[in-house]
Amino acid sequence: MRVGILTGGGDCPGLNAAIRAVAKSLILKQKAEIIGVKDGFLGLIEKRTTTISYSDCSGILNLGGTILGTHNRADPFNHEGRDVSSHVKDYYDTLGLDALVVIGGDGSLSIASELAQMDMNIVGVPKTIDNDLMCTDRTFGFDTATSIVTEAIDRLRTTGQSHKRIMILETMGRNAGWIALHSGLAGGADSILIPEHPYNIEEVARICQARSGDKGYALVVVAEGARPQGGSTVVRETIADSPDPIRFGGIGEDLKRQLEKHIDAEVRATNLGHIQRGGTPTSFDRIFATEVGCYAAKMVANGEFGKVAIIRNNTLGQVPLSKVANKTRVVTEEDISYMTAVNMGISFGIKQQ
Ligand code: F6P
Repeated sequence: MRVGILTGGGDCPGLNAAIRAVAKSLILKQKAEIIGVKDGFLGLIEKRTTTISYSDCSGILNLGGTILGTHNRADPFNHEGRDVSSHVKDYYDTLGLDALVVIGGDGSLSIASELAQMDMNIVGVPKTIDNDLMCTDRTFGFDTATSIVTEAIDRLRTTGQSHKRIMILETMGRNAGWIALHSGLAGGADSILIPEHPYNIEEVARICQARSGDKGYALVVVAEGARPQGGSTVVRETIADSPDPIRFGGIGEDLKRQLEKHIDAEVRATNLGHIQRGGTPTSFDRIFATEVGCYAAKMVANGEFGKVAIIRNNTLGQVPLSKVANKTRVVTEEDISYMTAVNMGISFGIKQQ
C-alpha cells in the first residue's frame, strides 16, 4: 500500500503529531509506504514529494509547524488562473498512490472534496486553530492557540491593572469567534466581541466604563472577524488567488479608536497575530492529533474514502468531505461556552442581553 500525506492551508500546532500518527500506524499495521507531499497542494501541482520512513516520524510529536511544509494559496482548480486538477490526478496515478490523506481546514478539505470526485481516494483530517470546521466538535491547533491567547490575557491584566487602562486583545479566527470566546472565558475578559454578534460601540464603552470604575481596568477580547453594528470587518489584505482570499486584521486598533471617543480612560490594543499559530502544541492537541490521525489511517486501511475523520460527543467518526466543504461552523447561542460566558456576565457588546 502506498499512501500520500499532505498538509494544506495555514499551519497549526499538532500537524506533525498528525503526520506521525497517520504514517506510523500505516507503516506498523499495513506495512505501507508513505509519500509526503511538499507544501500542500502546490507539491501535487509541481510534482514535489518525498518518502517518509518510520524513523522520519521520530522526535516530531512536539514540533510546531509541519515538516512537509504548507501553502495557503495553492488550488489545483485555480492555479494561476488555470484548472490543473487533471494534471494533479495524473501525478497521483504516476505516484501509484492507493490513498491520499489531506490534513487541512475548510479551504483544503473543500479542495479535497472536489478531488475526491475525480477518482482519487482521499481521507481528510481536521486541523485549524479557528475550530470552525463543520461536523466536528474540535479541530487540533485550537487548544494551543486558546492557551497562548489566555496567557496573553493574563499578562495584559497585570499591566492594565497597574496603569488603570482598557486593554484590548485581538485574536485570529476568521469568521468564527471560537478563539476569542474560549480564551476570553479562560482569561476572565469583561467583554468578548465575536463575528457572530456585531457589537454596539456604546454598549462596549458602557461595559468598559462600568468595569474600570469597579476595578480600575477592563479587558476586551475581540475576534479579527468582529465588526460594529452597521459597520464592516477590517480586512488587512485580499489575496485573489487564495481559496481564502480575505485576510483579516486590525479590528483591535479600530476598536481602540472607536472606544476613545466614548471614554476617558486610556486604551491600548494588542494583536497577537501568528504567535497564536506557531510553536509547540499543548498535550491536548498532541493527543487529539494522534487520535484522529490513527483513526484516519484506519479509514485508509478500510477503504473509507471521500470522508473526513471527526469527533462528535467524544467519539471518533467520519462524515463525507462534501459535508464540511465550503462551510463554516460558527458560535451559536446554544453553545455551552457562549451560554456560560453570558451567565458569567461577560458582555458581547450587544444591548439588552
Ligand atoms: O485559518 C487560520 C488563520 O490563522 C486565521 O485565523 C487567520 O485569519 C488566517 O489563518 C491568517 O492567514 P495568513 O497566515 O495567510 O495571514
